[in-house]
Amino acid sequence: MNGSEERAWIKAALDVRERAYAPYSKFKVGAALVSRTGRVFTGCNVENASYGLTICAERVALASAVSEGERAFQALAICAPGAPAPCGACRQVLHEFCPELLILMVDPTTHETAKTQLSTLLPHAFQRDSLDIDPGD
Ligand code: THU
Repeated sequence: MNGSEERAWIKAALDVRERAYAPYSKFKVGAALVSRTGRVFTGCNVENASYGLTICAERVALASAVSEGERAFQALAICAPGAPAPCGACRQVLHEFCPELLILMVDPTTHETAKTQLSTLLPHAFQRDSLDIDPGD
């Protein structure tokens, strides 16, 4: 990973944020999830008049990646005002595939970026090993 790669991931998150459907919260979020092989999958938040059905940008990106056959990831760029960290639900869903994911949190106006790791945001996660079954694949 280098600076120009990170800038490309951040730009992808900034660009997809423009397509966010957030008429209720007005809080637009863009996410770019990068596979170990370098493919970038993007997602934006998609809200609903039945508020609880809203889907976060990170989970849209993850579902897109898994649908395209990717399950191993190296980084996630999330872009929203104030550069927030992913919500708890998204942390758990991302953890399923990459507990050590690098997370870049970007403010869309200043482009100020903070970095952390998913394992820092979600220690002691519930995981496959916690289940008393063999999930197979
Ligand atoms: N949102 C995300 O897309 N990702 C997060 O990690 C936190 C929140 C969205 C959901 C909702 O559309 C809006 O931000 C306000 O909560």
